[in-house]
Amino acid sequence: MYFQKIRHPSNFRFAEAHTSTALRLADSELPARVRDLGEDVFHVEIADAARWPLDARLLRLNEDEFDGPSGYRLGWGAGASLQLADAGGTILLEGLGGACFGVCGRAWLLQLARDDAMRFYGQGEKLTGLEKTGKRTKFWNLDVWADHPMPVVIDGQPDPQYAAIPYLLIRRGAHWVGILVDHPGSVFMDTGSNWFFSGRDDLQAPPSLWFGADEGVPAFYVIAGHSAAAVTQRLQRLVGKTPLPPLWALGHHQCRWGYRGPRDLQRLDRAFAAHEFPNDGLWLDIDYMEDYKVFTTSPAHFGDRAAELQALNDRGHRVVPILDPGVKVQQGYEVAASGQAAGIYCLNPEGAPYVGFVWPGRTWFPDFSLPEARVWWAGYARQFREWGFGGAWIDMNDPSTGAAEVDDMRFQRGAWPHWTYHNLYATGMAQATHEGFLAARPDERPFLLSRSAATGSSRWTAVWTGDNWSNWQHLRATIPCTLNLALSGIPFNGPDVPGFGGHASRELAIAWYKAGMLFPFLRNHAVAGSAQQEPWVFGDEALAIIRHHVRLRYKLLPYLYQLWIAQERDGTAVMRPLFHDFDNEDGQELDHIDDQFLVGPALMQAPLLHPGQQRRTVTLPGRGRWMDVSDGRFIRAGRSIQVTSNVASTPVFLREGQLIPMQPGARISQTNDLADIELHLILGAGCSDEAALDYAADDGLSYGYRRDERSLWRFTAWREGDVLHLEAAVLEAGWKPLRLCVVGYDGARSVVVTTATGTQTLTLVSEPWVFSGAPLAAGRSQAVSI
Ligand code: NOJ
Repeated sequence: MYFQKIRHPSNFRFAEAHTSTALRLADSELPARVRDLGEDVFHVEIADAARWPLDARLLRLNEDEFDGPSGYRLGWGAGASLQLADAGGTILLEGLGGACFGVCGRAWLLQLARDDAMRFYGQGEKLTGLEKTGKRTKFWNLDVWADHPMPVVIDGQPDPQYAAIPYLLIRRGAHWVGILVDHPGSVFMDTGSNWFFSGRDDLQAPPSLWFGADEGVPAFYVIAGHSAAAVTQRLQRLVGKTPLPPLWALGHHQCRWGYRGPRDLQRLDRAFAAHEFPNDGLWLDIDYMEDYKVFTTSPAHFGDRAAELQALNDRGHRVVPILDPGVKVQQGYEVAASGQAAGIYCLNPEGAPYVGFVWPGRTWFPDFSLPEARVWWAGYARQFREWGFGGAWIDMNDPSTGAAEVDDMRFQRGAWPHWTYHNLYATGMAQATHEGFLAARPDERPFLLSRSAATGSSRWTAVWTGDNWSNWQHLRATIPCTLNLALSGIPFNGPDVPGFGGHASRELAIAWYKAGMLFPFLRNHAVAGSAQQEPWVFGDEALAIIRHHVRLRYKLLPYLYQLWIAQERDGTAVMRPLFHDFDNEDGQELDHIDDQFLVGPALMQAPLLHPGQQRRTVTLPGRGRWMDVSDGRFIRAGRSIQVTSNVASTPVFLREGQLIPMQPGARISQTNDLADIELHLILGAGCSDEAALDYAADDGLSYGYRRDERSLWRFTAWREGDVLHLEAAVLEAGWKPLRLCVVGYDGARSVVVTTATGTQTLTLVSEPWVFSGAPLAAGRSQAVSI
């Protein structure tokens, strides 16, 4: 498979006309259907069974989600051109005149007119920047280090990556349109790239963008709306929202290729405790297994496995082992034999189990496209969970097959060629692992982390962005990559911190932790043979800075948790670009800002991403004010400012008019209680906004919250002079009552708290605290119970 070349419209034959049910080629008709699914979500399908006999779309998306009316209109117009119009009939997107839908054998392509005002985002996991104009790209899950030259991996933009999400988010003025190709195999997309050779011809051609697939039923969704946020929410509902994670998954995780078993993890546990450094997950890479055989543990590294895992669990650490799909081909290995007996392995074209090469050598691969294979795998995953492992880290599921050509791996008992399930392979593995974990503990929310992913995998697993490198370029690239993943329906993701390959320097480690401290997923992980990079190896000063910012993450967990509640409720992205929450307004262009990001509605980071950097420009979006946590000043938005920072701090801004729930005090361990919070009222002097927040608390682990075992409070707050007002109503009381302190800023002296039982005025006692850098002036009330 070529990764740099994609199909070109020059070899396609395009439909010239349409009827209400078909597109007309010169000599044939292709049945074509546009369905309005409701709420401005549309589905387009050209299901010609003669040309595309195999419909391999096994993962059905949630088309029934949408029941409201659509304001936009999508349909075929003159010249068989697909047209999207708004409610007033203005055409927002349209096919390239006379060359919109085309075929080239079994390949298909859809071409749309492009203009310079369009902006492009999404495309899932890519290292090609935030805005995607001029990109030619493929969507094909890949073992990146195995398939790209190392210099490209280290310093370039290797593409494709591990996770393929063929989604394009287009901004055109005040309209946003998402296009999601519903396809399990290789998809290509071009947003106006200029080829070296074809450049002159392409320049003379009318500007276009195109997407398509090498084979398989042409089908895609179109989602239209008035904001990136609205379109992203509907995409997420369509592909599947991320279920509320267990709280421990949102903490800090420590991993390294080289930790082999409980003894190594006990050492880590002691170090985290000694350094008063909160940490939830301790991860085991491939060395914990016996001969790299999946679903085994090495007798050399484990003693009384259940007791060892329980002891680590009792100390507040979940142990998360790696699981690779490849099953070692070996006589007497029970897992291999039972899979063979059940006939659940992928087959090669000769009808024998397909053989690839992973860590244990020759390996067979479960065919996760078969429900019975998922049941088989889930049985082993269940046992693993019962042994006491806390989560699962599913790797090499691109699938990675070493020297063996992946194309010879066939699915559905050999009947389906490889492309039919390639990009979904990891998703099937995630689904099966999830089912196994649930079977073991039906009332505990499973946590899985996967390397590869596809449209829809967000229902079962989080994603880390694979094997990155410890350098500044990778640090910078991680922000737009994570943002675009969130816009593409994979909100729960994050990179290896401070880089997987190479050796992280002290300065890079500090910078990466500060930039990444609030990423949806935060895990320190490194390749075997690299320099150690646990948070304490860079010296006392570095440890103090890194620890401070990880403790800050823990302090913010009540806030972060609400963002995941919103994700599960309505599909709202957690970490997001500025244009997700703010329009370009008053001449302020947010389209290309790739080094600042929002974590929920209230918090914006603008990290330092270059060696030695102490100063940078920060764009303050919107029309209100932002509080600079370095000095507590409230700064008018709608402009850019210069900020200085230093090695110990990172620029963070809190949005005025927001209420931010945090855990009390400095967090020196991973223990937490969502019903014991400080509520930070971000209301500066002179603020006339009213702030509101619905805050929910539960046990952070079980599905109790779905059975009403949670509490929910509604807060409303405002400021008059130096007096803050907070009204609190209990909406649900299925968990605990709330213990709450109020924290105010910018000279606030007291808070009037009104609950169902009465009103009390509490003094805010000066209690400066360090958010990042210098102490921040703040006033704190005594605790009240609600
Ligand atoms: C590849 C994964 O991407 C990496 O994180 C892991 O350490 C190695 N496999 C070894 O299991």
